[in-house]
Amino acid sequence: MSVIAVVPAAGRGERLGAQVPKALVEVAGEPLLVHAVHGLLAAGCVDHVVVAAPAAEVEVVTMAVRRFEARVSVVVGGAERGDSVRLALRAGLRTLPDADVVLVHDAARAFTPVEVVRSVVDAVRAGSAAVVPVLPVSDTVKQVDETGRVVATPERAALRIVQTPQAFAAAVLRRAYDILAADDESASPVASVPQATDDAGLVERLGVPVRTVPGHAHAFKVTTPFDLALADALLVGHPA
Ligand code: CTP
Ligand code: MG
Repeated sequence: MSVIAVVPAAGRGERLGAQVPKALVEVAGEPLLVHAVHGLLAAGCVDHVVVAAPAAEVEVVTMAVRRFEARVSVVVGGAERGDSVRLALRAGLRTLPDADVVLVHDAARAFTPVEVVRSVVDAVRAGSAAVVPVLPVSDTVKQVDETGRVVATPERAALRIVQTPQAFAAAVLRRAYDILAADDESASPVASVPQATDDAGLVERLGVPVRTVPGHAHAFKVTTPFDLALADALLVGHPA
């Protein structure tokens, strides 16, 4: 009975526009992905972390996580986030085939408090197959058509912003990503990974109920330079 965390960190960070891939951008002297991995391990309930790194940065990422020793491994990520998750998930299940809980956590949500990590793991341990941390929506949200014309105003009270880590019973996430067995070399090629903007979205398509737990403002995703400024402000006086 163990917990694996998969950390997709292989994106380019185009919206951030830094000189290096986003996961390697430093805040308080440490790359975002190191903050993210540190937070997962500091929760005390994660046994192994697999980071999906940009192909050109595997060595740099491996060096960056060296201090965590055997608790963290690094794989080459894929073209889309879903590809990166699938590759890291497969590696994690090879390392810990008996894992019963899998977390998927964006490197870009580097400042997620340990309480959020613990609460998604606890919810899966308590019997939920899939759990996502959420926040209420404070802005009104409009649905628009391709020309930008408003077609609907969904009731705000029923909407939630979704964060990570998202936690799953290992068998459920394995099924969502079509990974039949930890050592399955013949599973469908990476190019056929189903795409969704979050992992729970894939699980929903299987008809598996997804539960929510309270997220946290500090679990915001670093996407733009504004978010990076926010991250710097958050960590002033709190170096990693
Ligand atoms: N990610 C990944 N592999 C990809 C694309 C994204 O592992 N092929 C990861 C990112 O590194 C990030 C997380 O998925 O930690 C969420 O993606 P996002 O915030 O969109 O990051 P980027 O894709 O890097 O940013 P952008 O879309 O602005 O290029
Ligand atoms: Mg992206």
